[in-house]
Amino acid sequence: MHRSRIILALIAATVAVGVWFWLAPPRWLLNTMKPVDLTDPVAAGKAVVEKYGCRGCHLVGEKGNRLRAPDLNTVTDRLDAVSLRLWLRDPRAIKWKTLMPDFHLSDPEIEAVLSYLNALKRPGD
Ligand code: HEC
Repeated sequence: MHRSRIILALIAATVAVGVWFWLAPPRWLLNTMKPVDLTDPVAAGKAVVEKYGCRGCHLVGEKGNRLRAPDLNTVTDRLDAVSLRLWLRDPRAIKWKTLMPDFHLSDPEIEAVLSYLNALKRPGD
């Protein structure tokens, strides 16, 4: 094979892998790129909620949007941890037409968010 063809094939393969990782990054890549220190999981989860702007759509604690999406203060009473993990990993796998973006959260980010959501005060507490 001509040398320039090999180079072109390598470039095409690199672009293909790049597009694949960008559109559907594998778990190991997300976990490497977005690690979270889980010593204080509640504080880490709060930081994740702020980083991704979840309050633009959800009410979390006292602050957030009450109109666009469900109140997250009581979400852990409504949904079990397995369903919440599935949702946060890939919302479109559960509801194709949801407004919620796929943030490509890493596993420790998801665990941190769950700890934070579990720790939120319920109305009337
Ligand atoms: C652009 C708006 C938007 C943003 C930003 C957003 N969500 Fe959502 N989320 C939704 C909508 C809308 C739903 C309801 C599902 C549906 O019917 O589409 C939802 C559902 C959920 C649910 C399930 C709630 C239930 O009662 O079914 C959880 C948990 C959740 N979001 C967490 C998060 C977290 C954590 C973040 C930030 C990392 C976030 N969301 C950011 C729009 C958003």
